[in-house]
Amino acid sequence: MTASNSRTAEHPIDRQFLERWSPRAFTQDTIPESTLLTFLEAARWAPSSYNSQPWRFVYARRDTEHWTRFLGFLNEFNRGWAQHAAAILIVLSKRTFTPPGAATEAPLASHSFDTGAAWGYFALQASLSGWKAHGLAGIEREHIRAELAIPEEYAIEAAVAIGRAGDKASLPEALQKRETPSPRNPLPTIVAEGRFAL
Ligand SMILES: Cc1cc2nc3c(=O)[nH]c(=O)nc-3n(C[C@H](O)[C@H](O)[C@H](O)COP(=O)(O)O)c2cc1C
Repeated sequence: MTASNSRTAEHPIDRQFLERWSPRAFTQDTIPESTLLTFLEAARWAPSSYNSQPWRFVYARRDTEHWTRFLGFLNEFNRGWAQHAAAILIVLSKRTFTPPGAATEAPLASHSFDTGAAWGYFALQASLSGWKAHGLAGIEREHIRAELAIPEEYAIEAAVAIGRAGDKASLPEALQKRETPSPRNPLPTIVAEGRFAL
């Protein structure tokens, strides 16, 4: 069995999958743009339907002119802890693509699925590089769309807070209790062979 980080896998897997997790305590370090770009480079190599690559990313780094505006894209709860992160990434996906040989765009059913894979690659590369990436659904979508002038054909999927894991004592008490790698549902409760028996 693979074990790491207080987590134990039911089947042997690479330790990196257990070692990635989502803290809320960050160190307030800044992140070099080149480092952030290596995480985005990993995301770029995710698979996608028709290799359509529907993912799009817009980011702001701490101590830059964009930082305060991007903090304003998060809901109040998330802003409370993510203000100490090093970067905020907005993850978008393009809902349409041009099928091979076609002259016009068609709906891409998998735009969110493909972009989820890219975010997964991003998070794993960040973790392998000694950083943490914490996904955020608690965001102000209409505010983001208006402020960044995002056309309707792009879905606003989520945000990501990126930083170096910090001391959990820096968090409010209620969050300190949750600042630990979480468990997962047992595999038999999410997987069935041959029929939907879940
Ligand atoms: C798409 C997505 C949205 C999330 N939204 C939030 C959020 O708004 N606030 C938050 O504190 N955590 C958020 N999380 C973190 C999850 O709660 C966390 O990933 C989950 O509990 C599993 O823990 P782990 O990432 O440490 O393994 C989000 C994660 C994902 C992938």
